[in-house]
Amino acid sequence: MCGIVGYTGPREAYPIVLKGLKRLEYRGYDSTGVALLDNGHLNVYKKKGKVAELEETLIGKDLHSHIGIGHTRWATHGEPSDRNAHPHLSNSGELAMLHNGIIENYVPIKNDLLKKGYTFKSDTDTEVLLNFIEDIKKNNNCSLEEALRIALKRIVGAYCILLVEQNDPETIYAARKGSPLVIGIGKGEHFLASDASPIIEYTKEVVYVNDYEIAIVRPDELILKNLGNEKQTPFITKLDMELASIEKGGYDHFMLKEIHEQPDTIHDCLRGRLLPETGQIIMSGIDDNLEALVNAQRIVIVACGTSWHAGLIAEYMIEELCRIPVEVEYASEFRYRNPIINRGDVIVAISQSGETADTLVALEKAKEQGAFILGVVNVVGSSIARISHAGAYTHAGHEIGVASTKAFTGQLAVLSMMALKIAYAKATITEERYMQLVRDLHAIPEKVKEILKDTSNIKAIAEKYKDAKDFLFLGRGYNFPVALEGALKLKEISYIHAEGYPAAEMKHGPIALVDENLPVVFVATKDSYYEKIVSNVQEIKARKGKVIAVATEGDEVIPGMSNDVMFVPDTDEVIAPLLSTIPLQLLSYYVGISKGIDVDKPRNLAKSVTVE
Ligand code: AGP
Repeated sequence: MCGIVGYTGPREAYPIVLKGLKRLEYRGYDSTGVALLDNGHLNVYKKKGKVAELEETLIGKDLHSHIGIGHTRWATHGEPSDRNAHPHLSNSGELAMLHNGIIENYVPIKNDLLKKGYTFKSDTDTEVLLNFIEDIKKNNNCSLEEALRIALKRIVGAYCILLVEQNDPETIYAARKGSPLVIGIGKGEHFLASDASPIIEYTKEVVYVNDYEIAIVRPDELILKNLGNEKQTPFITKLDMELASIEKGGYDHFMLKEIHEQPDTIHDCLRGRLLPETGQIIMSGIDDNLEALVNAQRIVIVACGTSWHAGLIAEYMIEELCRIPVEVEYASEFRYRNPIINRGDVIVAISQSGETADTLVALEKAKEQGAFILGVVNVVGSSIARISHAGAYTHAGHEIGVASTKAFTGQLAVLSMMALKIAYAKATITEERYMQLVRDLHAIPEKVKEILKDTSNIKAIAEKYKDAKDFLFLGRGYNFPVALEGALKLKEISYIHAEGYPAAEMKHGPIALVDENLPVVFVATKDSYYEKIVSNVQEIKARKGKVIAVATEGDEVIPGMSNDVMFVPDTDEVIAPLLSTIPLQLLSYYVGISKGIDVDKPRNLAKSVTVE
C-alpha cells in the first residue's frame, strides 16, 4: 500500500509528483506529502487527507524545485494525521524520506535512538528508519549511500523508500524489498513511482527495481547496486500501456468505467488464445507446462479477497472438468501454517496487482519447498508475475477502482481456458462438451455487453434497498463464490454489512437473521442446482425476507417468487459466474454512489495490499 513518486531532472518537480500521486491514490489516501529541494532548502509539505486537499493548501506557495518526492499513505504505524504523513525529516533536518512498507524491528532501533537523544515527531516506523540512517552516517562518517546500505542490512520488513539530502540537489536514493518500485528513463531526467501510471506520459522505458537493490538516481544517471555494493545492470522494459487506459474516459468513476470495459477486457483476454473454429486454446505459459498440470497430484490456489473468490470458482471448474483435487487457500493463512507441499503439487497464484504481500510471501515459501508456481496476474512485470515459474496474464488493463471488477472476470476467463486445456489434454471431458464450452466462452463478451446495455433496473433496485443495514447473498455451486464476491463488493463500497453464504447452508444459522427488513440476493441462474435454489428462495419468502434475484433471461419461476430481478443471458454453468457477477458489481456501485461514497477510494482500503 502507499503510493510513492519521485522526479529528478530539468522540469518543475512539483506538478509531476502531484499528478503522479493522484494516479497512485488507489494505493492509499489517508494522507499526502511532498518534499521539494530548492537552493539548499528541503521543504516538506504534508497533510491528512487526499492529494487534492494538500494541493489546495499549497496554492500560491513557491514550490519551485527540480527534484521532488511525494507519498500518498495507507496508515500502518500511527493514525492518519498531518504529523504521521510522509515524507519525514531527520533530526538534523538534512534528510527527507518516504516509505511504503513496514519495518518490523523498528521498536529496538527506536529505543536505541531515543537513548542517544533522538526525538520523534511521528508514530511511524519510517521516521525511525530515517534517523537510523542519519545516525549511521554520522557515526561512520560515511556517505548517505553507504549509510543507507548499512541500515537496510540491519532492518527486517518490507520497504520501498525514496530519500533525498539537503546538500545534494540532484540525487534521489531509492531502495526496495517487497514493495514495488519502477524507474522511468527520460532524456536527462528520471521518474520514480510505485507503478508505471505516473510515468507513462513522459516515457515508456522503465526499469523494475528488484528486491534488495538500491538505486542512485540523478538526471543523467541511474546506478543500481545490490546491498553488497555490487553494480547491477538495469534491465530496461518497454511499457505496453496507453495513457487513456488510466483516465476516466467520460465515466463518473473508474469503477463504472471498469465495469463497462468488461466486454472488451474479456475479449482481449480470450483474443488469440481461444480459437472457437478449431477449438484450440493457445496459452504459452500453460502449453509449456502442460505436463506438470496434467500430472498434478493436487492444485493449490493461493490468493486474497476477490482473487480468492476467483480461485474458489476455479476449484469447482478444475475438479469437475479435470478431475484434479484442488485446495483454495487464503494466502495470509497459507504462509504461516506450515502447509504440506508434495512433489507434483502445482501452486496457482491469483492476483490483480501482482504485489499483494501475503500472496507474494506465500509463494516465496512454496517455491523454497520446491513447488511449481503458476501466476494468474493482471499487472505485467509485477512481483508475483516475476516470481512465478510460468503464468498467464489476465490482460484486463489498468484497474484503478479499489473494488476489483474487470480483473475478476479476466481471472475467470484465464482460469476457464486453463481448466479446459487441462481437461482436454487429460481427456476428462468429451470432445463435444469441450467444444461447446469453448463456443460458450467465446460468446461471453457479447453477453456481458447485453447486460450492460441498460442498467436502469439495477440502479432502481439499488435505490430501493440502499438504506438496508444488512444484506445476505446466497448461491449454490458455481454461483456460491459469486455470492461471496457480491457481498464483498457491497461491503467495500457501500459500508453495508453483507454476508455471502451457500444457499443451503443458511438453514444452519444465518436464516435467523431473516425478517421483512433483510434483502436477500439470490444468485439463481438456470443450472444443475436450479430446483434446489428455488426451494431456498421459498424458505426466505416464508420468513418475509425481501428477495432480489439474479436470474436467467426467460426464466419465470424465480422472477415470480422475487421482489426484484436482475436478468443475465443463459450460458453453461461452468462459466456462468462471468455473467452473474456483473449485476452484483452494478448493484454495489449504485448503492455506493446513492450513499455518497467515494466508490473508487472507499475508506480504510487500498488497491494493492503490500503489507501483511
Ligand atoms: C477487491 O475488490 C478487493 N479490493 C480486494 O479484496 C483484492 O481482491 C485483494 O486485496 C487481492 O488483491 P490482488 O488481486 O491484487 O492480489
